[in-house]
Amino acid sequence: MCGIVGYIGSKKVYPILIKGLKRLEYRGYDSAGVAMISDSGDLNVYKAKGKVDNLTEYCNDKDVSGCVGIAHTRWATHGEPSARNAHPHYSSTHNLAIIHNGIIENYADIKTQLQAKGVEFKSDTDTEVLVQLMEYIMVKKNLALLEAVQVALHQVIGAYAIAIIDKRDPRQIIAARKQSPLVVGIGTDEFFLGSDASPIIDYTDKVVYLEDGNIAVIRLGEELKVISILGEEQELKVKTVDINLGQIEKGGYEHFMLKEIFEQPECLMNCMRGRINVEGNHVTLSAMIDYRQQLLGAKRIVIVACGTSWHAGLIGKQLFENLCRIPCEVEYASEFRYRNPVVTKDDVVIAISQSGETADTLAAIQLAKEQGAFIFGICNAIGSSIPRATDTGTYIHVGPEIGVASTKAFTGQVTVLSMLALCLAAERKTISEDLYGQMVKELTQIPDKMEQALKTNEQIEHLAPIFTYAKNCLYLGRGYNFPLALEGALKLKEISYIHAEGYPAAEMKHGPIALIDSEMPVFVIATRDRLYEKVISNIQEVRARGGRVTALVTEGDTQIQKFADHIITLPDTLECFQPLIASIPLQLLAYHIAVCKGKDVDRPRNLAKSVTVE
Ligand code: AGP
Ligand code: GLU
Repeated sequence: MCGIVGYIGSKKVYPILIKGLKRLEYRGYDSAGVAMISDSGDLNVYKAKGKVDNLTEYCNDKDVSGCVGIAHTRWATHGEPSARNAHPHYSSTHNLAIIHNGIIENYADIKTQLQAKGVEFKSDTDTEVLVQLMEYIMVKKNLALLEAVQVALHQVIGAYAIAIIDKRDPRQIIAARKQSPLVVGIGTDEFFLGSDASPIIDYTDKVVYLEDGNIAVIRLGEELKVISILGEEQELKVKTVDINLGQIEKGGYEHFMLKEIFEQPECLMNCMRGRINVEGNHVTLSAMIDYRQQLLGAKRIVIVACGTSWHAGLIGKQLFENLCRIPCEVEYASEFRYRNPVVTKDDVVIAISQSGETADTLAAIQLAKEQGAFIFGICNAIGSSIPRATDTGTYIHVGPEIGVASTKAFTGQVTVLSMLALCLAAERKTISEDLYGQMVKELTQIPDKMEQALKTNEQIEHLAPIFTYAKNCLYLGRGYNFPLALEGALKLKEISYIHAEGYPAAEMKHGPIALIDSEMPVFVIATRDRLYEKVISNIQEVRARGGRVTALVTEGDTQIQKFADHIITLPDTLECFQPLIASIPLQLLAYHIAVCKGKDVDRPRNLAKSVTVE
């Protein structure tokens, strides 16, 4: 999820690594570190919490000599952000050092096995397991590093981009990837390594994008060699990079927001990884194992959050009530903290926050804690204030969200809420085995369906100019799609500065219907579910007043096109997961309308990414 840099050649490695880390800083990070084989043959690892500047300050009085090294900026997934958990990680003998982006799902099993054999661990990360396992295999089976890496990677389940150096062989870096990007830059008698090309392009435009399941054997004085985990040599596909720095940082997208919208299928796979089993029929959350009694004892769930996270909470309420039969209330954290709410020790309070730093949500947690409630956090930024203030929780693991308008965090939050509701429902036996199985399976298919939904991008880009004149817009939805109507309206407000309202479709006739005329775009989430027919009637009500309807419909729908001005077709899914799919066109709509209006999409006026004041 975060940044990798590496170098081997005849230049001084330290400045190259630091410059590369700075290039990757845009991704967000919580700590950084370097490992270098010094001129005298030592393997030096230096790490610091926070920015790359903290690392350089720490290295001021250290030996930073050497011409081979690897470096990392971390976005923690396992273990709090700290110098101890920062990468690179040493093996026990300090002969090897590793950096890793991604998540090792079965790290706990491997760690227990290695500990039983006497291996001592220095960090709480999943990453350290890899380097300890590699060293254990090297010693036990008397293998060279490359072979040990191959054997170790066979035992590992998860996603990784890794690089390893061995102080006994300073002419080599081994790198490998699975579901996490890795690029090797080829210079003259030197090689570079990066999680994307941004740390490389200053030095060379010749790169090899490593493919999934492949290992790069980077040896000084030799040609780059790429092999599969099984050892089969792969054809070397050298490409020329022809893009500027800004494009690389945004992965070729014009804005971070668009990149983050398109990243969602992968983000949700990361969010479910290690939680839904490989067979796709069982979901477990570690919090549910560690705090089973407290969570199952909940007489009521109270969700506190702000903004987009609050909208995710509204979907959570329906999940907890429908699937688990637990009463659930959703509160604006800013209201909750000042209104003397009734909270008891039988309540589980769920705090949802992307940044983990929102002041109002933090204050709501304090208040609920004082009243004795059990607090569960759903956050993205690991080690931020909210996860530290809660009793337990589940990270959404969608990686750094940089665009101010939240997109992938929303779908990550809804995914965690869905997994939590499924765990609770199964334990409380409020869900049939059949439905449970069907729902878990469907959840694993959401990333593919999101890919399909992303195909509406072009259509939406063409539609967007029609709406730029609007002063007001209305978003309508019912059931699980009502919170999504609120979220769609919030997205449009935030980045295009067009006033928008989200409303339950049937409630429209109790007021907002007065606003409808031919100049008022109305976006209706009309996917096929229990309330489908009723939503059609609501569309008719809008049409009768001259309103212009754009409807999100399920593929195969033949009815709504008769009444709507535009339809956007989405893949079918279970009703409760519909917001995961339908959020995509709504995010794209807000994005393209804002772009057409020439607005600063990633940094809209007056807004901050993390609201640390009340
Ligand atoms: C989302 O697009 C907004 N920028 C905003 O509403 C945000 O969701 C809210 O400030 C809460 O932030 P949090 O999730 O980091 O707590
Ligand atoms: N899972 C690893 C950790 O928590 C790597 C995280 C990353 O990709 O930065 O340390």
